[in-house]
Amino acid sequence: MEILITATAVLTLLIIVILIGTRGRPMRFFTAFGEVLAAIARNRWPVFFLAISAGLALAFLYLFYIYPPIGPAQPIPFSHRVHAGVKNIDCRFCHPYVDQSTFPGLPTVEKCLFCHNHIIAGHPEIQKEHEYFNTDTPTPWRKVNYIPEHVMFNHQRHIKKDIQCQACHGRVEEKDRLAGRDFQMGFCLDCHRKKDANIGCWLACHN
Ligand code: HEC
Ligand code: HEC
Ligand code: HEC
Ligand code: HEC
Repeated sequence: MEILITATAVLTLLIIVILIGTRGRPMRFFTAFGEVLAAIARNRWPVFFLAISAGLALAFLYLFYIYPPIGPAQPIPFSHRVHAGVKNIDCRFCHPYVDQSTFPGLPTVEKCLFCHNHIIAGHPEIQKEHEYFNTDTPTPWRKVNYIPEHVMFNHQRHIKKDIQCQACHGRVEEKDRLAGRDFQMGFCLDCHRKKDANIGCWLACHN
């Protein structure tokens, strides 16, 4: 649907631009277009290489900035892949309130040091944790998941129904850096429909 609307909008805009550009005589566009084609045919190789390098540049930008989605750098390069994946630490050890409160909780500095006073204690990134500990500052983790403010979301109801963290957060245990997401209503509704959960949204999810 969105694609259709966008396509129509772009097409309309194109027609308007052509009409203005040719001062109301759109056929001129085609003669001009023909001339451009002829010019391209004359300079086939330079145009060819230009197109290839533009394509490569776009692919490069796409690969490095859009795919795969990488989240913002965190104050400490904490890796879910290492902790939840390789070392298989339970999500709830670090996000203990996920089934009791609206806020799942992020691990405190003390919790990191509970292990890291013994494991790789001399690692420079762990030294940073000690600085936070000594100055009594919570680690300034950057939040990556968002939901519009007027939506009431809580974890409990979902966790109690045995919905896996991964259903909403993806394969967290395979990622070094979480990209998070902006949750949209369609995503919530898809599953609510499938699982026969409440979709009377104004009562259930919005306030
Ligand atoms: C239950 C124990 C445990 C807790 C809690 C824990 N870690 Fe770890 N962490 C580990 C283990 C095990 C390793 C792997 C060490 C190794 O490579 O030998 C590790 C590795 C690391 C590394 C190095 C990763 C790398 O790429 O080499 C960093 C940085 C780190 N942890 C930061 C943290 C932070 C920050 C916290 C708190 C949010 C934390 N850890 C909480 C057990 C823990
Ligand atoms: C050793 C501790 C630890 C374990 C185990 C752990 N996490 Fe985390 N989690 C963190 C820390 C620290 C952050 C904040 C930094 C970050 O985003 O990487 C975080 C952030 C998150 C966030 C993003 C929060 C936001 O900013 O919106 C989600 C979602 C999450 N964890 C889910 C999980 C899931 C699911 C598991 C189990 C598969 C898990 N975590 C296991 C420590 C842990
Ligand atoms: C039904 C979907 C869903 C499931 C299942 C789910 N989450 Fe979330 N989670 C969300 C949404 C939506 C947010 C953003 C909410 C917000 O910002 O208030 C979020 C945010 C978080 C945060 C960040 C909270 C913060 O204060 O920034 C953590 C940590 C987290 N989830 C951990 C988990 C863990 C661990 C599990 C599994 C035990 C889990 N989630 C299961 C949807 C889900
Ligand atoms: C993977 C499936 C799934 C996803 C995704 C999901 N939900 Fe749910 N949700 C459920 C189920 C199942 C229930 C019913 C729980 C129960 O019956 O206690 C539920 C219940 C709820 C309730 C309580 C409704 C009531 O009856 O009072 C709210 C509010 C809610 N979800 C909001 C959300 C929001 C907001 C999102 C999107 C960020 C979301 N859910 C995403 C499966 C899901």
